[in-house]
Amino acid sequence: MSDVTTKSQTNTSQNSYTNILTATEDNIAIVTLNRPKVLNALNHELMTELTDALAGFDQDSAIGAIVITGGDRAFAAGADIKEMSDETAINIMLQNKFATWDKIRAVKKPIIAAVSGFALGGGCELMMNCDIIIASETAQFGQPEINLGVIPGAGGTQRLTRIVGKYKAMELILTGRPVTAAEALAMGLVNRVLPVELYLEEAKTLAKQIAGKSQVAVQLAKEAVLKNYDMSLTEGLEFERKNFYMLFASDDQKEGMKAFLEKRPAKFTGK
Ligand code: HXC
Repeated sequence: MSDVTTKSQTNTSQNSYTNILTATEDNIAIVTLNRPKVLNALNHELMTELTDALAGFDQDSAIGAIVITGGDRAFAAGADIKEMSDETAINIMLQNKFATWDKIRAVKKPIIAAVSGFALGGGCELMMNCDIIIASETAQFGQPEINLGVIPGAGGTQRLTRIVGKYKAMELILTGRPVTAAEALAMGLVNRVLPVELYLEEAKTLAKQIAGKSQVAVQLAKEAVLKNYDMSLTEGLEFERKNFYMLFASDDQKEGMKAFLEKRPAKFTGK
């Protein structure tokens, strides 16, 4: 059993990241998304830094589990709409910028999401890429892409459906309605819900507990669970991403994202 009762020492790493913070505490790593002014909107640079940090901790034999968090107000309010709004279907497809996300799936060590505030769109999808989810009572989850004239593009249509079932996923994805932490707990979208002062500590405690187990067993267990979960997921993910890219050829995507940035309701034409 790991010794989690001794006083923890948090070491904040010196690194060149500008959109995330990284730290280690005992045998775990903590990655904090750090674009608070835009509610941790997930731009390409942040995702590159995040996946780079995850790969580094995955290789570090002193680390047994990784916590991803975003601060109390927002885990992440989605992919960066400003960055995406002027994309064209061809450019976004050829550059395949969202392929960075696939690197999260390659991480062998368990990842625990500590989620408070907004976990929307890509934020909710990032969370669903994690292995265990600890939420605060203020957390709110959703896939609001439909309001921007697009659809989830980083696994939402596939993972949410597998987690909560067809009808609930369909409702959330087609209406964009956010759900509370209590509702998310009831639908099995999160492991547990704690007061905002406690959720991060709970996630760290759980991470340390797991990090104290046999690392090879933990990694093989994670791999086996995901193998079962993953069957026939790949085709669905490819299909989803193609459709997501394709939507950048639509007027509604341009209008939906422009309207968001101009803080006005979108006028969709269905074209
Ligand atoms: C860029 C964002 C953003 C986002 C918030 N901001 N979400 N910027 N991309 N996803 C910015 C706002 O423009 C604003 O900047 C600042 O963060 C604070 O946000 P407010 O809207 O002023 O805060 P509030 O009124 O509290 O509303 C919070 C909110 C709202 C409900 C979360 O911001 C919101 O609806 N955000 C968009 C959520 C969304 O649609 N996510 C899906 C994105 S598409 P300024 O400069 O005005 O202060 C997506 C596709 C995934 O995720 C595809 C694959 C990865």
